[in-house]
Amino acid sequence: MNAPIGVIDSGVGGLTVTKEIMKVLPHETIYYIGDTARCPYGPRDKQEVKTFTWQMAKALQRLNIKMLVIACNTATAVTLESLQQKLPIPVIGVINPGARAAEKKTKRNEIVVLATEGTIKSGAYENALLSLSSKAKIIPLACPTFVPLVESGEYEGQFAFDLVANGLKPLVKEKFDTVILGCTHYPILQQHIEKFVGPDVTVLSSAEETAKEVGEWLAYHNLLNDSDEEPHHIFHTTGSVPIFKMIAEKWLQSKQLDVRRIKLE
Ligand code: DGL
Repeated sequence: MNAPIGVIDSGVGGLTVTKEIMKVLPHETIYYIGDTARCPYGPRDKQEVKTFTWQMAKALQRLNIKMLVIACNTATAVTLESLQQKLPIPVIGVINPGARAAEKKTKRNEIVVLATEGTIKSGAYENALLSLSSKAKIIPLACPTFVPLVESGEYEGQFAFDLVANGLKPLVKEKFDTVILGCTHYPILQQHIEKFVGPDVTVLSSAEETAKEVGEWLAYHNLLNDSDEEPHHIFHTTGSVPIFKMIAEKWLQSKQLDVRRIKLE
């Protein structure tokens, strides 16, 4: 079925998941919405995140997507269930795939979850990890400065590293072997995070597992794209088109992306 896959996030973070979907499913078309104008979602209250997420979902539904990927942990934590119940298409979030990825990698079951305040407060990663292993020792840490850093586009260099290192300071006294990047913006800061935690710690995101799950769902529901045509992806932002385009083209290593402004209500 040649309809697009919808991907949503509060901003550019969902591009980290999009990149993996493009790798695993190169024939699929992606319609993306980043709610950059209202980013970050992390500090917002649950109801507001729910309202904004539903607005994105509905806007993509009007564009006839065949499946929705909530490529935002904060939105997944509070909206996955209601979207799954009420939308007539398959809906996938990023928290269960992230927890699965960590569970596969960890050796000592000592797992740090880096995420937004909203995701940490929701306890969604704890629930997901403990349902996979009751022995998991989970160290949650909210990193409120990371998303604005990524959205500014100034996420390379010493200033960015120092800001990341400062946010990760509370980990110095902890013991862990695995770090989950529990916010889809954080893989863009992965090098800084890896430098801080050192080579003995595995740093992973939900992107690969999510992309795998998307492929499996589409195959199972017989929804895979069967045409050989090059897909035309469309990226929508509620904020600045040039900034979104700059970050997206760099991250996806692609020139001339079709980036458009969208109004949500
Ligand atoms: N990228 C999002 C997440 O995975 C949201 C970040 C934010 O807007 O605070 O949680």
